[in-house]
Amino acid sequence: MSVERILIIGAAGQIGSELTIALRKKFGADRVYATDIKMAEKDIVEGGPFQVLDVMNDKMLIHFIIRNKITQIYLLAAVLSGNAEKLPVQAWNINMESLLNVLEIARMVDKVKKIFWPSSIAVFGPTTQKLKTPQLTVMEPTTVYGIAKLAGERWCSYYHHKYGIDIRSLRYPGLISYKTEAGGGTTDYAVEIYYDAIAHGHYECFIEKDTYMPFMFMPDAIKATIALMDRKRSKLSIHSGYNLAGFSYCPEDFYNEIKKHIPDFTIEYKPDFRQAIADSWPDSIDDSVTKKDWGFTPECDISHMTSIMLSEMKKKLN
Ligand code: SER
Repeated sequence: MSVERILIIGAAGQIGSELTIALRKKFGADRVYATDIKMAEKDIVEGGPFQVLDVMNDKMLIHFIIRNKITQIYLLAAVLSGNAEKLPVQAWNINMESLLNVLEIARMVDKVKKIFWPSSIAVFGPTTQKLKTPQLTVMEPTTVYGIAKLAGERWCSYYHHKYGIDIRSLRYPGLISYKTEAGGGTTDYAVEIYYDAIAHGHYECFIEKDTYMPFMFMPDAIKATIALMDRKRSKLSIHSGYNLAGFSYCPEDFYNEIKKHIPDFTIEYKPDFRQAIADSWPDSIDDSVTKKDWGFTPECDISHMTSIMLSEMKKKLN
């Protein structure tokens, strides 16, 4: 069996900061090369190789990959949905060019055997069936982030069919975590709410109280990612992005759950431009193809997650 050498692009971000730790445990710290355009937290920088690297610089990237004999790439750098709406063309360029740089390198460098790239529920749009959205369905995203994710899925499928590249992807639901702040997403109210509950006892929510979206706690998302990457290639029927269901919640669900721990917690609903984004995304996801191909089921529901989020956020804020 060949020895894996892993490159993480976007290791300072919300997914990267946790996936790096998990992959270092699995493959050995010195085999997981964490990179980001900015400095990462101490545990990432000191826990194994770390380098500041810009994925948009394809020459630097290919040198890094060849020099370090990289065999797997996790491309996690992206501009999220809310931020992308503010600078649509720049967001498109960053989200697409980074993927195309990595796909081209995988095509040119024989040693690179496997790629992970995250897709999102943002690939769906207002014309998609909202409840139990199936794997294969109408996809007319209305956000620049979603358009780029859908185009990215098509590119992944293209490189798979045309060049035989083993690229794997998940349509992540809203991801909830405490380690690194989420940045500029629509589902990020569900991270902010915990922080503000502890810091201020009050949260001003930019999404309406009864708007449902699918969510997943980060430890489940990390498990799903590793399970997908470990699965035998011949068992996988999807070469774009696998649906990942998680659990569906609305802001009022988080509010009620937090109130069990902080009875004085208050919330005010002031929807902004992100409400339209949330309205265009599914309420819930059908992950039957995922279950059939590699059998993943999330474990952590809102009450378990809320206890962990509140106690970890408390430690952080102290
Ligand atoms: N959670 C992301 C966002 O809200 C979507 O993948 O932008």
